[in-house]
Amino acid sequence: MEFYLINGGPRKKYNTTKLLNRVQDGINDTLTKNNAEEFNINTIRLYDLDYKGCKSCFHCKKIGGKYYGECPIKDDLRELLPKIHESDAVVFASPIYFGGITGELKSFLERLMFSKLVYGKESLACKKPNGIIYSMNVKKELSDEIYKDNVFKTTEDYLSYTFGQPYSLKVYDTYQFKDYSLYENYLFDEKEKEKTLKEQFPKDLDSAYNLGVKITNDTL
Ligand SMILES: Cc1cc2nc3c(=O)[nH]c(=O)nc-3n(C[C@H](O)[C@H](O)[C@H](O)COP(=O)(O)O)c2cc1C
Repeated sequence: MEFYLINGGPRKKYNTTKLLNRVQDGINDTLTKNNAEEFNINTIRLYDLDYKGCKSCFHCKKIGGKYYGECPIKDDLRELLPKIHESDAVVFASPIYFGGITGELKSFLERLMFSKLVYGKESLACKKPNGIIYSMNVKKELSDEIYKDNVFKTTEDYLSYTFGQPYSLKVYDTYQFKDYSLYENYLFDEKEKEKTLKEQFPKDLDSAYNLGVKITNDTL
């Protein structure tokens, strides 16, 4: 069995990575508990790869074309995209940057999903358990007010079309710096952030773990 965890954030030791690590634990524990014999949990850090978004060449939609249903662009995604399409489950994670997923994840999803999109018909992609995790600075109340559901819904609607309805986890009020006194900031209170880090973030990590469990159970 092949699982893919797609990290759309740049920081190797912060919120998004920690959440995705717990997804990995959830997958690993569930597979082990069910005596799954052979499995790989592949973590992909998008910031380590060299690629751009869809170039609108339309080779993927050319009737009878060599690359029908595939993205022909020769870069670091050329071999990776088919592997993800053939995998058993996939989980994406991203910090929220300027009210949306990171540019890297957006570009990646264009390449992953557009080649399987057929205008006016079902996607060519194989349905599979999937999920998406967002981590963001703002508190839930502010996120509900300024982002409403639109920011998340658009991405999730396209994931639904491509792979099936994703599990979704939103993590709010994340701890952004190691030492708040070193950086200019008039908006976030360090003490409150510390409280969230101690009291809420462990629960968020549990939710990430449970997302991993659910995704895996869906594949068994
Ligand atoms: C360029 C940039 C833009 C950001 N924009 C937003 C934003 O619009 N809304 C928000 O809640 N947080 C925003 N943040 C904060 C991050 O989303 C938040 O700290 C996130 O948890 C970072 O994830 P990480 O710790 O894995 O890097 C932004 C951070 C950066 C660096």
